[in-house]
Amino acid sequence: MKPLLTDLVSTVNSIPQNFIRPESDRPNLDEVTFDHSIPLVDLQHLDDGPNRSTVVKAIGDACRNYGFFQVKNHGVSKEVIGKMLHVSKQFFHLPESERLKNYSDDPMKTTRLSTSFNVRTENISSWRDYLRLHCYPLEDYVHEWPTNPPSFREDTSEYCKNTRRLAVRLLEAISESLDLERDYINSALGKHAQHMAINYYPPCPEPGLTYGLPGHADPNAITILLQDEVPGLQVLKDGKWIAVNPIPYTFIVNIGDQIQVVSNDSYKSVLHRAVVNCKEERISVPTFYCPSPDAVMGPAPKLIDPLHHPPLYRNFSYGEYYHSFWKRGLNSETCLDMFKI
Ligand code: OGA
Ligand code: NI
Repeated sequence: MKPLLTDLVSTVNSIPQNFIRPESDRPNLDEVTFDHSIPLVDLQHLDDGPNRSTVVKAIGDACRNYGFFQVKNHGVSKEVIGKMLHVSKQFFHLPESERLKNYSDDPMKTTRLSTSFNVRTENISSWRDYLRLHCYPLEDYVHEWPTNPPSFREDTSEYCKNTRRLAVRLLEAISESLDLERDYINSALGKHAQHMAINYYPPCPEPGLTYGLPGHADPNAITILLQDEVPGLQVLKDGKWIAVNPIPYTFIVNIGDQIQVVSNDSYKSVLHRAVVNCKEERISVPTFYCPSPDAVMGPAPKLIDPLHHPPLYRNFSYGEYYHSFWKRGLNSETCLDMFKI
């Protein structure tokens, strides 16, 4: 049996049994909404100047009403984005033996290539391979990263520095939109951490029977997702799945569980999923910006009062949260329930 899906795909013409979802848990692709999407926010005037408050309000509205938005004029150059997508594709096109040098099924390893979500605990597999990297502070992790393709470390480092800058700016805006001090959330994240994944979804002979990633909420603070030109991401809005079709050089930003906690549920970490198709491979590159494992997370004191807004979550360390996320697997019941008061 091949450890990675990429290498299994070429040997099959129907999907293997372990990828087939029960009828009650299939994508139902003909019920998906395609005619409207999530908000697109222009970050051109985010950095001070008289229009900052307008941008902050647009971000706050998107967080409250969708938990998801797209951003343009975000400050990350087309060159940096182009190189990241290119090196990602090159990596997944390397020969099997070369890719397998990075393979591990241990979710606590800081650099690893794996498949599905957590093969140690899950019963049904998902149609995805992924390379996962820790990337902040960069100098602690770069030496673990793949050296093939030859420009991998350089292109990915550059991309990480850029998305980190964007994440910090977005967290400032999100703090302000909640009427918190500008650096409130950035301070709450302790020493900060940044992870990324390169998701590779090969073409699938029967896309109606399986997922690239089943519906889930992200455990971190915010996610900045880059996707190639192939659609696949869907977001739950008012009980319906909406397709988020790619706009080149924009990012998709979503609220993760930790912002839901800090905001005491003003902002929600919304369910999303990736579906696959029978024609084309798809690549997505999420940056997961998160607290350091020792950071203690909980609702911001300014957003709670005993009478009208009692705290909904107990305080916990992000390390504890992150472990429970990987252990219980991806499913639509949020991990947050375990931390509710
Ligand atoms: C994720 C995720 C969506 C996508 O990796 O957490 O939601 O489109 N990815 O790949
Ligand atoms: Ni996700």
